[in-house]
Amino acid sequence: MTLPSAAFRHTNAAPYEPLRTFHPRRSQLGPGREDALARLWPRWGFSVHDAEQGPMPQTADGLLDVPRLFGREAPLVLEIGSGMGETTAAMAAADPARDYLAVEAHLPGIAHLLGLVEAQGLENVRVAHGDALDLVRHRLPESSLDAVHVFFPDPWPKARHHKRRIIQPAHVALLRSRLVVGGTLHCATDWVEYADAMLEVLDADPGLENPSGGFAPRPAHRPVTKFERRGLDLGHEVRDLVVRRCQ
Ligand SMILES: C[S@@+](CC[C@H](N)C(=O)[O-])C[C@H]1O[C@@H](n2cnc3c(N)ncnc32)[C@H](O)[C@@H]1O
Repeated sequence: MTLPSAAFRHTNAAPYEPLRTFHPRRSQLGPGREDALARLWPRWGFSVHDAEQGPMPQTADGLLDVPRLFGREAPLVLEIGSGMGETTAAMAAADPARDYLAVEAHLPGIAHLLGLVEAQGLENVRVAHGDALDLVRHRLPESSLDAVHVFFPDPWPKARHHKRRIIQPAHVALLRSRLVVGGTLHCATDWVEYADAMLEVLDADPGLENPSGGFAPRPAHRPVTKFERRGLDLGHEVRDLVVRRCQ
């Protein structure tokens, strides 16, 4: 029998970003997640790269048709690298007036989030499989996002891998251009050296301002995820950074 996840294999392997910000990981989904994928993906999912594997609703210009995707017009929050989706589901449930688009390259996380969306009856969450930077660059227009969330991105600790980090000047400029003026970019990491590098990159972007002047107090609305728990158990300190587009 062909499992629902089998159709995604070539998408996982395709080198859309020559310098990927994520580690390609292969993992079995297990029957529960295969079932979630088979039933729920057609309702709430789309593929960033492969129209046959969940077509993206598009405008005449080939951009993501956000009102059609959600069935309404509301401020949009983009979460890059939603992992297992616990944060997405919790924040979306607490914030029904905004829509949440979670983009993740790791299929088991997508399947898990779909299960959470169903179990919690969330109407304001959609999930995209693939490279979030590709989606942002090619499918989202300027000033289309109310917020961007980047929680516990892969730290790429080795110096020769820093170029793979998602928070770096060119990516930040891209994300900032897609925020509305006043919209926020919220990052969190348990990797102190990456946190310092993030602060430097965000401070250096002339279109962003940092209301807290440095690291932000941990917001109560951001739940602890598996990755964060692992970092805390290792004795890592967690830093939040919340900056705003100012021009
Ligand atoms: C360390 S995990 C953290 C997951 C989650 N945010 C959390 O806090 O538990 C980073 C995740 O980002 C995803 N990721 C990294 N770069 C990405 C990209 N360009 N597009 C989509 N997902 C990405 C990875 O697949 C991985 O699941």
